[in-house]
Amino acid sequence: MIAIGCDHAGVELKKYVIDTLTEKGFEFCDLGTDGEPCDYPDIAKKVCGLVVSGECEKGILICGTGIGMSIAANKIKGIRAALCSDSFSTKYTRLHNNSNVMCMGARTLGPGLAAELAEIFLTTGFEGGRHQRRIDLITDIENNN
Ligand code: RB5
Repeated sequence: MIAIGCDHAGVELKKYVIDTLTEKGFEFCDLGTDGEPCDYPDIAKKVCGLVVSGECEKGILICGTGIGMSIAANKIKGIRAALCSDSFSTKYTRLHNNSNVMCMGARTLGPGLAAELAEIFLTTGFEGGRHQRRIDLITDIENNN
């Protein structure tokens, strides 16, 4: 199950991503907004909460640029959120950073690219090895600041 959420800027794109990837067999827990104006940190908190608790394996967050969502998400312990706008970075943030949340900008990405990036994010595994040591160092920073 994938947790997904957006603010008012991302409603259309979120719907497109959900519809496209549901057809490919992914399942989503949609935490809003359905259209009402809202504050993106509130949605980031809800989506990341389900990822940290383990109820959802990954999260997708969409706002106008994806930047506000990524800043908010990365304040939450256990979240490694990546702002994704190209396929190489999207693939490598899974392979090397084991990112568990992806953020996208509805005002910067077309729907076709966004759905393709989401699929890459959801289907690429973590490489482990030396990258785990680096993630452990990130966790140390998180635990000591
Ligand atoms: C909302 O207008 C906009 O500020 C928000 O969607 C996002 O882009 C913030 O980073």
